[in-house]
This record gives sequence, C-alpha cells and structure tokens, in this order.
Amino acid sequence: MSMIRTRFTELFGVRHPIVQGGMQWVGTAPLVAAVANAGGLGMITALTQPGAEELAREIRRCRELTDQPFGVNLTILPSIKPPPYAEYRSAIIESGIRIVETAGSSPGEHMPHFRAAGVKVLHKCTSVRHAVTAERVGVDAISIDGFDCAGHTGEDDIPGLVLIPATVRRVGIPVIASGGFADGYGLVAALALGADGINMGTRFLCTAEAPVHDRVKEAIVAGDERNTDLILRQLRNTSRVTRNAVSQEAIRRLDEGAAFEDVRELVAGVRGREVFRTGDLDAGIWTAGLTQGLIDDIPTVAELIDRIVGEAEKTIAAGLPGLLER
Ligand SMILES: Cc1cc2nc3c(=O)[nH]c(=O)nc-3n(C[C@H](O)[C@H](O)[C@H](O)COP(=O)(O)O)c2cc1C
Repeated sequence: MSMIRTRFTELFGVRHPIVQGGMQWVGTAPLVAAVANAGGLGMITALTQPGAEELAREIRRCRELTDQPFGVNLTILPSIKPPPYAEYRSAIIESGIRIVETAGSSPGEHMPHFRAAGVKVLHKCTSVRHAVTAERVGVDAISIDGFDCAGHTGEDDIPGLVLIPATVRRVGIPVIASGGFADGYGLVAALALGADGINMGTRFLCTAEAPVHDRVKEAIVAGDERNTDLILRQLRNTSRVTRNAVSQEAIRRLDEGAAFEDVRELVAGVRGREVFRTGDLDAGIWTAGLTQGLIDDIPTVAELIDRIVGEAEKTIAAGLPGLLER
C-alpha cells in the first residue's frame, strides 16, 4: 500500500501527516491517544491541566492508552497573571515527552531547555515573520495558522491560500498547514502549496472521542462556514469563535467602546468550559472555525484519519493525474 511520506512524517516519526493541535479543555488523554493510535500526531494541551503535577498525570494516562508518539501543546500568550510556564515545561521534559507544539509568543526562552532534552518543537504562529523568527530560535518545524482557523487568528487576516506558500518560501524547515482543513482534499491542497502536512482543531473537536457534550458536536454539524465571529478585535487579541449570544454581546460592547474589563467575565475561559461540559451553547465563548461548513458527521478519530488519508491518496493517484491531457 502506498503511503504519503513527507519531511514531517519522517522527522516526527508518525504514520500520517496529520496533527491534532492543542485545544483548551479538549486536548486530553482520550482524544490524544485516539489520534496517536490512528497514526496522527495528537497534542495534550498543557494549560487545560491546573498545574504541572496534573499535566504529568495526564501524560501518564495517555501512555496507558497508546504506545505511539504524542506531544504536548504549550500555549504562550501575553497575560496579566502568566501561568507557571517553567513548571509545565519541566513536567513535559521530565515525563519523557519528545514532541512539543508551542503556540503564540516566540518559544525562544524555552528552546535551550527543549533542545537539551532532545524535544522536537513544532511552533504554531499566524504570520510569516513569526515563522522566520521561530526558525531562527531553533524550532524543528512550523505550523502556520491561516485566518480561516479557529481560535487566535492574529491581526494580519491572511488566509491560508497565500499564507501557506508565503511561509514555505521563507523557511527551510518543514511546514504544517493549519486553519480550514477538514478532509483529504484539503490535505492534498496543502501538500500542493508546499506544506508537509496539516493541523486541525475544529474537525477533531467533532469526533466521537472529543471530551465535549454531544450538543456541541451537533452544533458544528449543523453550522456552516458563516457560523463564526471574530471577537476581541479592538484589543488586538482576535479570536475566531462560534457565533452565539455571548460572542455577539462581547462584540456589541466593544463596538460601543467598552474596555477589556467590561467583557472579561463574558469571554472567560471557564465559561467556555461550561459549554463543553453541559452542552449549553450560550453558556460562554466556545472556539470553532470556518470548517463548520465542511463538517457533517461525528466519526471516530480512526474513521476520520483513515478517510482523510484515503481521500488524499485517491486524489493524488487518480483524481489529479486524470486532469492531464494525454
Ligand atoms: C476548541 C478549540 C480550542 C483551541 N485551543 C487552543 C489552545 O489552547 N492552544 C492553541 O495553540 N490552539 C488552540 N486551538 C487552535 C487549534 O489548535 C488549531 O490551530 C485550529 O483549530 C486550526 O484551525 P481549524 O479549527 O480550522 O482546524 C483551539 C481550537 C479549538 C477548536
């Protein structure tokens, strides 16, 4: 059987060029292990765990569910009260994790520690210039997250169709295309643009193993590509989330000149967690992207990854060659 091999699958030692990016409240052992067992690269989300000890426990729990490689996402965002990043980092290294997805600010200060421990770093960012900086500070690969993505879009608003090849031109290390991917056709498009694989969030959120209420998954299936809002734009901290009563209220207040203090409670992460836990879709802000327009089922992770790989292999082997005139 033929397999899609890229610089990414070789470097990170996974069967398929498919990454499940960090997802707050979602990236826990059951989902990550399912991705690993299906041949993808799953990421436990460090900040979902209240502290370094709990993170180490979650890593152990994942190891009980899979013998395949998996990684940990460390999201580094500017914050008034920053989480204890050094403690999370130590827990990652001491747990023997060999792959980390950093996201947000430059991972520069963490790199010497990860390098010394032989950890490979996949840095996720939303602009070419940040990708160039990350390569310079020594990361092993870039995940470039286009404007289409769920969550933090950055402030440049460059969709993947331009951002992916623009990044591929400027860095020498492998590039993972992120934002807007949900099927094998997207994977082939990413490879054609010069990427070495894809990263997905929303698509994995809508799988059987994702630890969120069924009503959330059903809302993603029902939603289309117009079902998101960009919030916190005025504060230059733009996030793409599912449109609901809370996102609309946050936008309304900020449009009227409100300060962050006036929306802080509305957009609080713990309220988003309540959506996932209870299925009350208006309990808070919850992250999902434009791929709502491409998602119409709730498969298991193994079904999803097999399907994506199958679609991609068929498209490469038969679909595209069929377009060539003989
Ligand atoms: C529910 C949810 C939570 C997310 N939380 C994080 C996070 O904590 N850290 C991070 O780096 N990315 C986070 N993301 C972004 C994903 O890792 C990924 O980059 C993004 O979803 C890609 O766009 P897509 O949804 O179109 O696939 C989140 C995405 C979703 C859907």
